[in-house]
Amino acid sequence: MTNNSHTMHTNLWNSHQLWIVVLLTYSVFTDAQTNNRPNIVIILADDLGVDDISFRGSNQFLTPNIDALAYSGVILKNLYTPAMCTPSRSALLTGKYPIHTGMQHYVIKNEEPWGLPLDETTIAQIFKQHGYYTSLIGKWHQGMSSKTYTPTKRGFDRHFGYLGSHVDYYDQTQVPTPKNLSRGHDFRDNLAVSRQYIGSYVTDVLTEAATKLISEHDVTKQPLFLLLSQLAPHSGNEDDPLQAPSEEIEKFAYIKDNERRTYAAMVSKLDQSVASVIDALAQKNILNNTIIVFLSDNGGPTRGMHSTTASNYPLKGQKNSPWEGGIRSSGAIWSPLLENLGTVWKQQLYIADLLPTLAAAANIPLDTQQLKLDGLNLWSALKYGYDAVEREIVHNIDDIYNYVSYGKGKWKLINGTINNGLYDVWMGARNNASNDFDFDPRAAAYEEVIMNTTVWQQLAGGALVQRNVNITKLREEAAIYCLMANASQGVACEPLSEPCLFDIDVDPCEQNNLYPAMSGGKVVQELQKRVAHFRETAHAPNNKPLDMNSNPALHDGEWGCWEDADETDGVAARMPFSVRAVLWACALLIFTF
Ligand SMILES: *[C@@H]1O[C@H](CO)[C@@H](O)[C@H](O)[C@H]1NC(C)=O
Ligand SMILES: *[C@@H]1O[C@H](CO)[C@@H](O)[C@H](O)[C@H]1NC(C)=O
Ligand SMILES: *[C@@H]1O[C@H](CO)[C@@H](O)[C@H](O)[C@H]1NC(C)=O
Ligand SMILES: *[C@@H]1O[C@H](CO)[C@@H](O)[C@H](O)[C@H]1NC(C)=O
Ligand SMILES: *[C@@H]1O[C@H](CO)[C@@H](O)[C@H](O)[C@H]1NC(C)=O
Ligand SMILES: *[C@@H]1O[C@H](CO)[C@@H](O)[C@H](O)[C@H]1NC(C)=O
Ligand SMILES: *[C@@H]1O[C@H](CO)[C@@H](O)[C@H](O)[C@H]1NC(C)=O
Repeated sequence: MTNNSHTMHTNLWNSHQLWIVVLLTYSVFTDAQTNNRPNIVIILADDLGVDDISFRGSNQFLTPNIDALAYSGVILKNLYTPAMCTPSRSALLTGKYPIHTGMQHYVIKNEEPWGLPLDETTIAQIFKQHGYYTSLIGKWHQGMSSKTYTPTKRGFDRHFGYLGSHVDYYDQTQVPTPKNLSRGHDFRDNLAVSRQYIGSYVTDVLTEAATKLISEHDVTKQPLFLLLSQLAPHSGNEDDPLQAPSEEIEKFAYIKDNERRTYAAMVSKLDQSVASVIDALAQKNILNNTIIVFLSDNGGPTRGMHSTTASNYPLKGQKNSPWEGGIRSSGAIWSPLLENLGTVWKQQLYIADLLPTLAAAANIPLDTQQLKLDGLNLWSALKYGYDAVEREIVHNIDDIYNYVSYGKGKWKLINGTINNGLYDVWMGARNNASNDFDFDPRAAAYEEVIMNTTVWQQLAGGALVQRNVNITKLREEAAIYCLMANASQGVACEPLSEPCLFDIDVDPCEQNNLYPAMSGGKVVQELQKRVAHFRETAHAPNNKPLDMNSNPALHDGEWGCWEDADETDGVAARMPFSVRAVLWACALLIFTF
């Protein structure tokens, strides 16, 4: 009896000791891991057309810095995104299809009281939980009616920028949708309204905030997760859609079309932003442990709403459409952690794959069951440069617009379209034998221009990466080649009368509709079965009608947070994760003893 109770007591004591050992080991282990974890810098362009960068072959205006990043890194040749801002950003943040979070239809207007559902876990929450300092600089567009929807309540330690869809490049205002509401300002430093940047060009303001953060943040304490979500080259308001400093526009005097010339200047400022960010990382001496991703949230709008002259050449369609022109993004990734730098990776990937892929790169374990991710962890395939999977991507099932766009491997099925098919055409252009198109004079010495950039010298020239890169060859590999020179020679697609099927591998320009030939076959049956399956799993769209209480006239001229404008923030929510973790550990120890 006595013996037994003594034994029990010893065991109990041992288990307490064990607990302490486990906790200490865990904290030492996680600290060590935290210190080695790579910094993550994602630069997200807004509405950048697939051919508005020059690494796919365009010589109309060069983007030397983005190109230098792409050639020294891995070009993501077949990167897909949803076709609009709100859905695309929700997929990046959650690692899920917009149909699984209710974010699939259209975008959030500044007047609308909805956002990314509060029970969704964001990439920022995940990285924050694992010791990262998480920051969003720039656009949010995942909900702004109440503070609970805003970035600092969704896992970001810091937000500096705007909450809505877009702002004027100089005064950071947005015109309302109903004309009887007032124009409002939308720019904040965390939740505090910040009007000090009125008059400054917003691309530069965001770039400076990003470089300042990089230079001041101590990555030895907390690795950095930075999402730099630029406005560029999205349009401003309808009253002044294309805005750039006049000295920048001057550089593109050879571009004949006024709008295209200003657009080139807007993209050029974005290109310079990429250089500044990389330079800040280089000055800070942390490139050796950083992953840099560049991409656009969706294709460019060539015509219609928010159009900017963006070019998705040679793809069909544009932003907000089921076509490749809406959902292909020109992206690249660079990190010394990658083994295959200086290559073009052909694996299809989806923006939602970035969450599990970057988490894997950072050694962050994910509970994929609980998170219900649609994104795949492609880190290993990316790191070594092989094609891992026949990627299935639900581009959209939108039962309000009534269209489906779905891909599996080389097959792509489209049923229905938007705008009654008004923009279901090929809208981009390039130089050819019979036209007198604009030609960037720098393109005559293209390779030299790229290699002259500091980005190239920092990413490819230093001790970090040693290999020979043939820029011309990579540029040819990154280009998109159509099946035929004349699209009207293919079998026509009429998506409002019957579905269309394309073999995207050989026909990325969607010129030759295979549905009439294959509609009775197994391929189409399988694809339709998958679409039916996904339709069953879809979350109803979260969209809500405009709320006139959003009127900036009622809120000191500001957009956003009208539902809880007067509430103060809780203290607990502001406590850094490390403090909360220590408190939890203490509570756990007290409880155990
Ligand atoms: C604006 O017009 C809408 C109807 O078109 C109306 O419901 C709303 O109350 C008006 N708002 C203001 C501020 O006048
Ligand atoms: C990166 O370089 C810095 C400075 O040279 C060095 O202290 C650090 O250990 C390096 N980190 C990695 C992951 O190589
Ligand atoms: C295509 O869409 C239409 C309209 O939504 C629908 O009636 C039809 O069943 C769909 N066809 C297929 C094969 O999915
Ligand atoms: C050449 O470009 C012009 C202007 O973009 C276009 O109209 C024409 O169809 C193109 N010709 C060929 C052969 O591609
Ligand atoms: C590249 O840089 C060198 C050295 O500064 C300069 O001489 C050369 O003109 C530059 N080339 C181009 C194409 O800008
Ligand atoms: C680079 O690639 C291009 C196109 O594939 C080829 O013509 C050229 O010879 C290559 N240059 C070198 C130095 O290998
Ligand atoms: C393209 O093909 C169509 C149909 O065959 C023809 O009418 C048209 O002239 C062709 N266009 C060009 C630029 O070759």
